[in-house]
Amino acid sequence: MIVRSERFLDLEMPPEFLDSWITPVPHFFVRNHMQEPSTLDGETWNLVISGELQRPLTLSLAELAKFQIHTVTNTLECAGNGRGLYEPHVPGVQWQKGAVGTAHFSGPRLRDILERAGVQPSGRHVMFRGLDEVPGKVPPFIRSVAIEKAMDGDTLVATHMNGRPLAKHHGFPARALLPGWIGAASCKWLSEIKVLDKEFEGNFMKPGYRMPNHPLQPGEPLNVDDSHVLTSLNVKSVIAAPAEGSILHSRVFAVQGAAWAGEAEIVKVEVSSDGGASWQPAQLHRQQARYAWRLWSCRLKVPAAGPYTILSRATDSQERVQPRAAEWNPSGYFYNAIDQVNVHVQA
Ligand code: MTE
Repeated sequence: MIVRSERFLDLEMPPEFLDSWITPVPHFFVRNHMQEPSTLDGETWNLVISGELQRPLTLSLAELAKFQIHTVTNTLECAGNGRGLYEPHVPGVQWQKGAVGTAHFSGPRLRDILERAGVQPSGRHVMFRGLDEVPGKVPPFIRSVAIEKAMDGDTLVATHMNGRPLAKHHGFPARALLPGWIGAASCKWLSEIKVLDKEFEGNFMKPGYRMPNHPLQPGEPLNVDDSHVLTSLNVKSVIAAPAEGSILHSRVFAVQGAAWAGEAEIVKVEVSSDGGASWQPAQLHRQQARYAWRLWSCRLKVPAAGPYTILSRATDSQERVQPRAAEWNPSGYFYNAIDQVNVHVQA
């Protein structure tokens, strides 16, 4: 893993691991805004369900396990993945391609828990609070989502990842799982779920995790009053192989990678070796799930030995096409420019 920050642990997956449909937990990126909780005991931990409810609840881990358990295979991507590739440079964790991974997440549906508690008609948003340890003046990690997404049958209070209890880095004993949405929506180390009558307005909702309503000029500041909260992920593909800087010993070689589109579906991935003058369709691999990336591959043939830049471009079911340049914004969210790797063919 590539260590992007040690103070608050941020680990990035090298792009060559994008060749596996399910990311093994040791390769799954980690994004922490602050200190992980120092003590977490599954025996004494409780989840408080409060707010605009008829019957507020407190649930132990054992009580959560008694709800019907549902599994969702989800690609989790940090909204800041690719931030380090924006020009001009934007501050923040300098993620390149690997703040993303796909796992099977399991746990009770949030809807089943909220229905047991009885949501009042005034309940319009659902807030998640994590147990992170907040140093100095850092505001606590609290975010909210609209009630419609909270009540979706695939939104979970996940207790397991790839069939095992969540690792501490990924939110033990329970995290929210908002499939198809930016990673920040999936609050780790849950302590409280609160139903609100309006959107939560703390730091990680406003000014954090927002995109401008209209494209900005590079370098222009965000006007918070003309922006919206990030929800579903963008359309994107990334090349896993060949690796950047590879020397290839044949003019025919395999290109492979992964493509995802949040709540939408990948319909096409194309590859180019001539700067995008011509595109060749890649084959989408068989394994698929509604919120999971599709692996893809193709064989490329280049006319002569020499240096080449290989490009990949995804298209989704909402007709979104990966653009040449991502939409610059001051926090560096949603980087999804056509991916590229440079190789040298010696044949
Ligand atoms: N939840 C808490 N409590 N604290 C955090 O810092 N980081 C969020 C989200 N949930 C975070 C959190 C962000 S920005 C992302 S991208 C995902 O967790 C990352 O999940 P992972 O570390 O399991 O990959």
